[in-house]
Amino acid sequence: MPIQKVGVLGCGLMGSGIAQVAAMAGYPTVVKEVSEEFLRKGMTGIDKSLAKFAEKQTITPEKRTETLERLKGTTKFEDLADCDIVIEAITENLQVKRETFAAIDKIVKPGAIFASNTSSLVITEMITATRRADRFIGMHFFNPVPLMKLVEVVATVMTAPAVMDEAMKFAVSLGKVPIRTTDRSGFIVNRLLVPYLLDAIRALEEGAGNVEDIDKGMKLGCGYPMGPFTLLDFVGLETTLYIANIMFEEFREKRFAPPPLLKRLVAAGHHGKKTGRGFYDYSDPANPKALF
Ligand code: 3HC
Repeated sequence: MPIQKVGVLGCGLMGSGIAQVAAMAGYPTVVKEVSEEFLRKGMTGIDKSLAKFAEKQTITPEKRTETLERLKGTTKFEDLADCDIVIEAITENLQVKRETFAAIDKIVKPGAIFASNTSSLVITEMITATRRADRFIGMHFFNPVPLMKLVEVVATVMTAPAVMDEAMKFAVSLGKVPIRTTDRSGFIVNRLLVPYLLDAIRALEEGAGNVEDIDKGMKLGCGYPMGPFTLLDFVGLETTLYIANIMFEEFREKRFAPPPLLKRLVAAGHHGKKTGRGFYDYSDPANPKALF
């Protein structure tokens, strides 16, 4: 049976983006949060993003209305029961993810596919909380989800090949470009991106250049849309530290070891754009000021 109805667990930055693209692609979509307050926050973000698309005439005003009509927010697992795929984008905590998957495994119809949007946790360790090992995959989206084209579709040693094919088709139907990968921490993109970001911090620590010049170097010298420090602040320094620690734990290789400055900034609560301060100061958001 092709996928007809989509469920999303979590309506934070990633979950709201995933729910938005599913509803924009025409799927009736249910998005579940733990509280009405978090749900409202996520839905407001979706509304803003759709307003931006409408303003830029990327979508028509009708499509904006239809997308919102296809989206249902809930705080109950039961509302996911008849979904054909459930994509999880909740907090990056293995135990919480296992408990959540165990709970929905009893509620969501047996034929449905479960997918985790984790960026670095081991998917196989989530699967064992359910009884659908062959129908469990990773679907790793990129921030900002409504704009970024890529989805990493992750096969574990237990995933049925037909489920991978179905997920690849589904990603295309969302307007994304899927790539296949396997269940190793970081998959393809973070496997390459995280050492690069950490190395930019090491280059700064070694005095190779300042934040502004390193950013300019990679933007203008390599054509990257953002320099490494702008991207670090955009992704979130605490998120990068979390992913780096998991990848270091998995591979025990120096290139994944978080540099001291990253740890200090996170300890100080300077998490990047979201806290107003990271490698840049965002007091004037239109004019970020480099701090190092
Ligand atoms: N919805 C709708 N429209 C949006 C939007 C959203 N969520 N966010 C931005 N836009 C619109 C803006 O309004 C803007 O429109 P305009 O051209 O009319 O002004 C347009 O999109 C472009 O945005 P900006 O002008 O703000 O900035 P850019 O042209 O630089 O594009 C970007 C923004 C696409 C984010 C680009 O800078 C980029 O590709 N950056 C790199 C992002 C990246 O690497 N992401 C991956 C992070 S790693 C990850 O997610 C993995 C995880 O596991 C850590």
